[in-house]
Amino acid sequence: MSKEQVKQIFQPNPEFAKNASIKSMDEYNTLQNKAIENYEGFWGDYAKEKLDWIEPFTNTVDESNFPFVKWFEGGKLNVSHQCIDRHLDTRKNKAAIIFEGDRGDKQVITYLDLYYNVNKFANLLKEDFGVKKGDRVVIYMPMIPEAAYAMLACARIGAIHSIVFGGFSAEALKDRIEDAEAKVVITADGAYRKTKPYMLKPVVDNALKGKTPVEKVLVIERNNEEVAWVEGRDYSYNELIKNKSGKCEAELMDSEDPLFLLYTSGSTGKPKGVQHNSAGYILWAQMTMEWVFDVKENDTYWCTADVGWITGHTYIVYGPLAMGATTVMFEGVITFPDAGRPWQMVQEHRINQFYTAPTAIRVLHKMGEEEPKKYDLSSLKVLGTVGEPIDPPAWKWYYEEVGSSKCSIVDTYWQTETGGHVVSPLPGATPIKPGCATFPLPGIMAEILDPETGIKSEVGEKGYMCITKPWPAMIRGVWGDEERFVKSYFGDVKKDGKAVYFTGDGAVYDKDGYITITGRTDDVINVSGHRMGTAEVEAAIKKHPNVAEVAVVGKPHPLKGEGIFAYVVLKSDDGVADEVEEVKAINKIIKKEIGNIALCDDMLFAPGLPKTRSGKIMRRILRSIAKGEEITQDISTLEDPSIVAKIADMVKS
Ligand code: PRX
Repeated sequence: MSKEQVKQIFQPNPEFAKNASIKSMDEYNTLQNKAIENYEGFWGDYAKEKLDWIEPFTNTVDESNFPFVKWFEGGKLNVSHQCIDRHLDTRKNKAAIIFEGDRGDKQVITYLDLYYNVNKFANLLKEDFGVKKGDRVVIYMPMIPEAAYAMLACARIGAIHSIVFGGFSAEALKDRIEDAEAKVVITADGAYRKTKPYMLKPVVDNALKGKTPVEKVLVIERNNEEVAWVEGRDYSYNELIKNKSGKCEAELMDSEDPLFLLYTSGSTGKPKGVQHNSAGYILWAQMTMEWVFDVKENDTYWCTADVGWITGHTYIVYGPLAMGATTVMFEGVITFPDAGRPWQMVQEHRINQFYTAPTAIRVLHKMGEEEPKKYDLSSLKVLGTVGEPIDPPAWKWYYEEVGSSKCSIVDTYWQTETGGHVVSPLPGATPIKPGCATFPLPGIMAEILDPETGIKSEVGEKGYMCITKPWPAMIRGVWGDEERFVKSYFGDVKKDGKAVYFTGDGAVYDKDGYITITGRTDDVINVSGHRMGTAEVEAAIKKHPNVAEVAVVGKPHPLKGEGIFAYVVLKSDDGVADEVEEVKAINKIIKKEIGNIALCDDMLFAPGLPKTRSGKIMRRILRSIAKGEEITQDISTLEDPSIVAKIADMVKS
């Protein structure tokens, strides 16, 4: 694709725009101006209109203790009521969840089914496990409907769930359980991948070895493989659920009562427990579903994420259900049995909105360029992408071959901490450009700022992606660490002398004011759309007894977006006896400490690392070397400048 094509603008499909929830840029501008002129009025009106309050709120926003902000104080509601009960009058027989299993098994769960399943689950947690409001419950689950029931059951009784992605190792699970001080873990024996059973319960068993805050483990029997059982700790969901009542009163929750924690990587230290609270989060989850995906009453919507990540929370479970939509949940692998699987599913379920990650688009493109042509994809209206910048060739294939040049692509920019989309096209309004997240959503005061001056960046000048006013779905805290919350997000950029939220991403405006996200400015790597802290990977590698020093950086990867490149300095100076064995040993430790998702793509046994005289590792130089770039930075002040050429030569050879 030439540079000219990259700059091309694609107008929204006029037929689609006619019925879209936001129909034009004029409408967008009116909404955004309303928010600018009367921020409280804007949000207060939507909160009244969209949420089913059990008791009304009295104050829209309290910023007096910024960045500890409170939204919709005085209000009482329950998120599971918002997602289920309030739909029963009009949608009880509508599909809430359409489940497709790895082996092609299917299940349709209506809103009434969902109501009973969640109520029973909530009663189980309360009666059999003694779970109370405010208790933390860790969910370590495959992509099966019970994962959604578990989340909503926690919400119903006011317990705070913390989902740990099923690909994380026992050590990573243990860390998160301990940090959250969870008293219950909900898991499954396992599930299916590429038609074969795989296991989760043994990972939980390992994570709970030794001292643990966990008292009870609930096991959903999905693949019925044999698992070890600890009497008095482990219980079968399939047995206990049988005699539970289908009615459980929803706990009355304050707007600011916590809904969930989700651990995510930062540039330093261990993962942070990002806390989201009830009213603000669910309001924005629902509104963005309506605005960005434009889901209509009879639509079927599919997001391919895993519930272990924020995308799965907001855009598989909470957002779609809050608006009363039909959401598809998929247990399998999108390239199995071949790269036509998602298109076959779109055809079969008549999917209208499809939401996935650039890494998946690249893989589907590479493995099955012609596959979309084999299926009837005419139901598609909106295509979404999330998790990392999307490269123009992948964008173009998605637009032309999957969307037949008639669907808008919504390149949604957001993070675990933002709760929902913050910068994104609106499918009926925004003329789109490949690779551009375009404009802040109405109500979101997102700006690219110069980190030094806090002034809005000029066109073409890279700056920091910031949000200058609190928004309802904003992170409320880092679990158990107020100081880290303030330092991580409000320490870097000031606008008019006041700290603002900094996302950690760089971004740039083009001449039309479009925002393009350029990637992280910190030591966070984005591997296949998954956030990985270099510090975490380094800490794992350092557990190898022969490792003296290590530095991990990201390196562009054709499919994953970024891959992990580790520079390892060994203790013994006799060099590496057997490189292949050493790499294997280190990767084994990474797998144990974090999981397969953090395995290194490249590992170099280096004679040393480029450091300043004060001992700081110059990662910028290591990033350039990994990319094969010429080193243009001044290296004369390094402790040992010659190391740069030595390492660069090793990488080249
Ligand atoms: O770097 C940005 C990138 O993903 C990071 C957030 O990761 P996480 O909290 O795991 O949430 C992923 C799903 C929301 C961001 O800091 N990112 C997310 N969406 C985009 C993106 N980068 C570019 N374009 C996007 N659309």
